Amino acid sequence: MNSVIEAINSRRSVRCYKTKPVPKEILEQIVDAGNNAPFTSMTRSQPWRFVVVQDPKFREKLLQAAFPFWKGSIDSMKDKAPELYDMAMTMYNAYESKDVIYYSAPAIIFVIGPAGSGVSCALACENMMIAAQSFGLGSCYVGFGAMVKGSPEVVEALELQEGEAIFGPILLGYPELNPSEAITNALQNVGPNKKDSVTKWI
Ligand SMILES: Cc1cc2nc3c(=O)[nH]c(=O)nc-3n(C[C@H](O)[C@H](O)[C@H](O)COP(=O)(O)O)c2cc1C
Repeated sequence: MNSVIEAINSRRSVRCYKTKPVPKEILEQIVDAGNNAPFTSMTRSQPWRFVVVQDPKFREKLLQAAFPFWKGSIDSMKDKAPELYDMAMTMYNAYESKDVIYYSAPAIIFVIGPAGSGVSCALACENMMIAAQSFGLGSCYVGFGAMVKGSPEVVEALELQEGEAIFGPILLGYPELNPSEAITNALQNVGPNKKDSVTKWI
């Protein structure tokens, strides 16, 4: 099969990673793939910038920043969407390290751009996930991972400016093919089977 099609069609969100670091030259190629995404001509040039996080201590700071938002969102589902709440709590209980947001991924790429550049930045995110797949890496787009603006330290490190938004972030790492039983059970509820495309031909 065409290797690009294979990478696109075989990509699935990965939520359990080996601790093995991702080599810098691979991360650079993944960022470059993001940087080559299409962008709306309204922005005239690529609207994004990238922050690559590999430092586990900084990842812990990210988790501390995003966790209250995650917990608040999950708690609010308890009555409105009990199945989603149960699923989230199963995952919470499955992750011994309690990193239910970044899944202890060895690399996290923040795509940062003007708040109105969501479509272009999302295309950069997808390019990076497909590139990661082509290198045998797992990836996951974690919207909850963007909820870090409550931490002045994280805002400063990411150099977030007024009017900027975070897209992704994208988790990257070598997939853990044999996650613990608790994690396997939790993951069974996430990532639905794919439906055939709904397509009208004219
Ligand atoms: C905008 C967006 C936000 C997402 N946020 C999260 C998240 O916070 N945590 C997570 O585990 N997965 C997150 N995902 C991944 C989706 O759950 C996943 O893509 C979806 O279940 C389809 O599964 P697949 O990626 O394996 O095809 C997000 C995906 C998108 C597009």
